Amino acid sequence: MPTSTPAPVPAPGRSEIEIRGLHKSFGDHEVLRGIDLDVATGEVVCVIGPSGSGKSTLLRCVNLLEEPTRGQVFVGGTEVTDLDVDIDAVRRRIGMVFQQFNLFPHVTVVENLTLPQRRVLGRAKAHAARVARENLARVGLAEKADAYPAQLSGGQQQRVAIARALAMGPAVMLFDEPTSALDPELVGDVLAVMRMLAAEGMTMMVVTHEMSFAREVADRVVFMDEGRIVEEGPAARVVGDPRHERTRHFLNRILDPAAAEQPGPEKSL
Ligand SMILES: Nc1ncnc2c1ncn2[C@@H]1O[C@H](COP(=O)(O)OP(=O)(O)OP(=O)(O)O)[C@@H](O)[C@H]1O
Ligand SMILES: [Mg+2]
Repeated sequence: MPTSTPAPVPAPGRSEIEIRGLHKSFGDHEVLRGIDLDVATGEVVCVIGPSGSGKSTLLRCVNLLEEPTRGQVFVGGTEVTDLDVDIDAVRRRIGMVFQQFNLFPHVTVVENLTLPQRRVLGRAKAHAARVARENLARVGLAEKADAYPAQLSGGQQQRVAIARALAMGPAVMLFDEPTSALDPELVGDVLAVMRMLAAEGMTMMVVTHEMSFAREVADRVVFMDEGRIVEEGPAARVVGDPRHERTRHFLNRILDPAAAEQPGPEKSL
């Protein structure tokens, strides 16, 4: 097990993430229009939906990379939308992985993991290095510790980015399309690491277009459109038997893009 301080658990009866009446506008563009969502401790929730539906904005509101316009977000029972919240403490509880890996190019892989631990958590050098190497081993990259990011494939860089987040000992991991910048043959290794985390009981919110991942790994799938949750439920049900026309339309396009572009029977000659 990694040598890191375990994050405190939320109070009994509370979910790890609680989102209540969340609204977010950019100028007069209302991007989130009243989101209510709970993610229980150890639960994996996949968020799907068309481009521009507000998926990234939702994740970014959970760790306050965006400030909500209205509504409340609780993480581990602490209201992060409270003006007096210790935002650094909240962010320490939440690991985030983006489409772009954002590794420091001029330092080695292991230093990419030690620097944030030292700066944000104040860990001593030897402690940070030990945690870094443990987490690199966890994502299958122990032997790349002393390489530079540019010497790694995109999939390996993304696994380093995951290890960097894990080294901070988060209680929650947020993933925003972690595989969509990768060549198809590199996607599997990243998804395998995410599967491992899910199996270990990590609480996860994952924005993804990987429907087979959502189906196999997610406890719940949430479909968003135009800033609202249109449909949510067990992954197999939402992906396999969607109730709403908009969800069906979206899934058809994702699962079979070529067929979705064909004219429907009503349009054919
Ligand atoms: N910082 C910002 N300033 C202004 N508008 C923004 C900002 N961030 C996002 N938006 C707008 O909010 C809407 C939702 O964006 P968001 O990135 O959350 O969508 P998304 O569902 O993640 O889409 P994609 O699948 O393309 O990543 C979009 O119309 C986008 O242009
Ligand atoms: Mg997005």
